[in-house]
Amino acid sequence: LSISPFIATLPKVELHVHIEGTLTPALRWELAHRNGVALPYATYEDLKASYAVTLNHRPELNGRQPGIPTFLEAYFAGCEVLRTEADFYDLAMAYLTRCAEMNVRYAEPFFDIQAHTRRGVPGQAVLDGYLRAKQDAAARLGVHSNWIFCFLRDEPVADGLRAYEDARPWAAGSVQGGKGLFHAVGLASNAYERPPMLFEEGFLRAKADGLHVTMHCDFGQKDTHAHMDEAVFQVCGGMGAERIDHGLDAEDKEGLWRGLLERGIGLTLCPHAYHRRTATEVLFPKIRRLWERGVRFCINSDDPTLMHDVWIDGNLQKVYTYGGFSKAEMVQLARNAVDMCWADEGIKKSIY
Ligand code: HPA
Ligand code: ZN
Repeated sequence: LSISPFIATLPKVELHVHIEGTLTPALRWELAHRNGVALPYATYEDLKASYAVTLNHRPELNGRQPGIPTFLEAYFAGCEVLRTEADFYDLAMAYLTRCAEMNVRYAEPFFDIQAHTRRGVPGQAVLDGYLRAKQDAAARLGVHSNWIFCFLRDEPVADGLRAYEDARPWAAGSVQGGKGLFHAVGLASNAYERPPMLFEEGFLRAKADGLHVTMHCDFGQKDTHAHMDEAVFQVCGGMGAERIDHGLDAEDKEGLWRGLLERGIGLTLCPHAYHRRTATEVLFPKIRRLWERGVRFCINSDDPTLMHDVWIDGNLQKVYTYGGFSKAEMVQLARNAVDMCWADEGIKKSIY
C-alpha cells in the first residue's frame, strides 16, 4: 500500500509508539557490533528476515512453533543490543528523525525501562539517552516529544513501583527538580491475567506527581472487556484512565463505549497491528462503527519495525483506503491526536 501525497503531508501527532519497537534491523546490527553482542543470525539478511513472522502472545491461542518467537519475545530480544546512553540516544534520534520525514510534529513515545534494568543496564543510561534525544530533536528538527514511562504488567508490581521511583528524577509534572523527560505513565507488555487494577498504586503515585495516566487494553486479549471496565471505571480511584491504548474491543460492548463517551476517554488505535490478524472486512467496519458512535480516537503505529515496517503514515493510509473515511474525516482524525495529546497549548496551536 503506497502512501498518498495527501497522507504524507498531513501534519501528524503520534501517541502510541513503543520506542523499543522502532529499532530497525540496520541499527540493531550496528549496535550489536558496537557493543560486541552476539546475535543469533549469521548475516544481516537473516536478521532482517526474522522480522517477518511472529506469533500472537496470547498463550491459549499460541500453537507454539519451534524457532518462531511470540511478538513480545521478538520485541525484548531486540532490546539486547541496547547498552549505553549513546545507544538509547541513537534509537530515539532515529525515530524522531523519521518523524520529521513523515511530518510528525509531536510524539509521546512509550519506554520500558524495566526491559533494560532487568538486564543490568543502568536506568540512568536509558533515561539520559532519551532525554538528550528529546532535547536535540526539538532544537534541530522541530519535533517535540513528551515521553511515557510504562510499567511492565507481567513483572511483579513491586518491581514496577521501584522502577518508577528510580525514574522519578526524570519526570515532568510536579516532581521537584524533575528533568522533564516523561509526563505520563502507561501499562505495557503481556496482559494475560494482569488486569490494570493490579497497578493502581503506581497510577495513584503518578497522579500525585502531576503526571497523566494511560494504559494498554490490547485488541482481542483474554478478559479484554473486564480489563477495559477497570481502565474506564475503576483505576485512578474510580476516575478512570485519561486515554486507553488500543481499546478497540469497546466497540461491541455498549457499557464500555458509552463509558468512553461520558468520560471523554480517547483511544490510541494502531490499525495495522490488528490487521495482521484480522480480515479487512471485519476490522475496518469495526473502526468505522466506533467513529460513528462518536468515540474519539487517533491513529498510530505501535511497534513499526516489528510490524512489517508500517509506520504512522502507513496506518493512516490503511484507514483512508479501507475504512471509508473522507479527506475531511482524515483531517479530523489527525486533529484528534492533537486534542488527545498532553502537549503545552503552544505546541498544540503550532500544529493546527
Ligand atoms: N503490546 C503490549 N505491550 C507492548 C507491545 C504490544 O504490542 N509492544 C511493546 N510493548
Ligand atoms: Zn502498544
